Amino acid sequence: MADAPVDSVVSVPVAVVGAGPAGLMLAHLLGRAGIETVAVDTRTRHEIETTQRAGILEADVAHDLVGTGVSDRILRDGHEHEGIEVRSAGRPYRIDFKQLVGASTWLYPQTDVFVDLADARARDGGTVHFGIRDTEVLDVATDAPRVRYTAPDGTRHEIRARYVVGADGSRSMCRDLVPEDRRVRYGTEYPFAWFGILAEAPTSAPELVYAHSAHGFALISQRTEAVQRMYFQCAPDESADAWSDDRIWETLQARVAGEDGFRLMEGPITEKTVLRFRSFVQEPMRWGSLLLAGDAAHTVPPTGARGLNLALHDVKVLAEVLPRALGGAGEAVLEEYEPRALRRVWRAQHFSYWMTRLLHTAPGASSFDLRRQLGELDNVVGTRAGRAYLAEQYTGWPTRDQAH
Ligand code: PHB
Repeated sequence: MADAPVDSVVSVPVAVVGAGPAGLMLAHLLGRAGIETVAVDTRTRHEIETTQRAGILEADVAHDLVGTGVSDRILRDGHEHEGIEVRSAGRPYRIDFKQLVGASTWLYPQTDVFVDLADARARDGGTVHFGIRDTEVLDVATDAPRVRYTAPDGTRHEIRARYVVGADGSRSMCRDLVPEDRRVRYGTEYPFAWFGILAEAPTSAPELVYAHSAHGFALISQRTEAVQRMYFQCAPDESADAWSDDRIWETLQARVAGEDGFRLMEGPITEKTVLRFRSFVQEPMRWGSLLLAGDAAHTVPPTGARGLNLALHDVKVLAEVLPRALGGAGEAVLEEYEPRALRRVWRAQHFSYWMTRLLHTAPGASSFDLRRQLGELDNVVGTRAGRAYLAEQYTGWPTRDQAH
């Protein structure tokens, strides 16, 4: 109940619902601008830290994390990658980012980005409450929105704010606060999922390997010198427990096999998960005093690893407009948020969809579909324009280039 008594009330300019990378980066950037926040999350810090997510950062994102003082650990523990390998019909093709578009990416797991951000918040005296429940976000259509929640010890609290940012992920409750007759939801489902593993094995290739094969898609990623992250296309209703280590290795090896004799280095599998995904966008991204950021407003399939990069772009724009709105320029400044964020969102929606469709084998595909797909792959890996297109999309679009 909205007005039931609470044990404490705090007032801050911005309340942040969701303390994953997007919510914490926003809190961090606003903190640097002298704006206090309280961030809350229903998950515990441990839960967030141990949920595997993608591991590729755009160079600009890596640069921002270092440059804004989140952490320079990325420079020590991360690895700069100047390209990827795409395998098609058993042949390897290198997409040379540096040479094609003068860009690179950083291999640095999202869980590490989260740890760095949570540590930076603690170091800077920011307020973050993990493991809360019964979250209520109230009065977002007014200029005095509130967030109420129950702390892990059972006490009830209220945050009074001028703005609430909903960075509460792909199962966002905040996005439901935009009235049904004022919002549009766009999306599509895929007839396949990813089987993801963590394995204690040495690295098999210097860069990430995206494999298209007659048996379906596979992705060979990395975590550390001794731990690897790999995925292969499976049915959405596949059960991870039904797969023995032997069967997993056999499947992965078959999908990357080729005339160059490439083989994966095998080792004990320490985690198995089936990851379902979809493409989704909700518009508008702002409703009154509520602003949506990251997965709460849009999700992409994991092919191409755009999700975190996109979320951090939203947050970068928000961290620019919110201080101006709070500093006297007024609410009108917030009108800038959605168009600036959405341009990149829809570019990334297309790219993630395109790369997913390019590399996966749809169940029930006709022989024409399969031959056409090989023709498309040949256009991508076999022409400079095709490779440059993939390289430019994959490495992200520099903010300054968006107008062109
Ligand atoms: C990962 O390392 O988990 C990863 C990398 C690239 C992707 C998706 C996931 O496209």
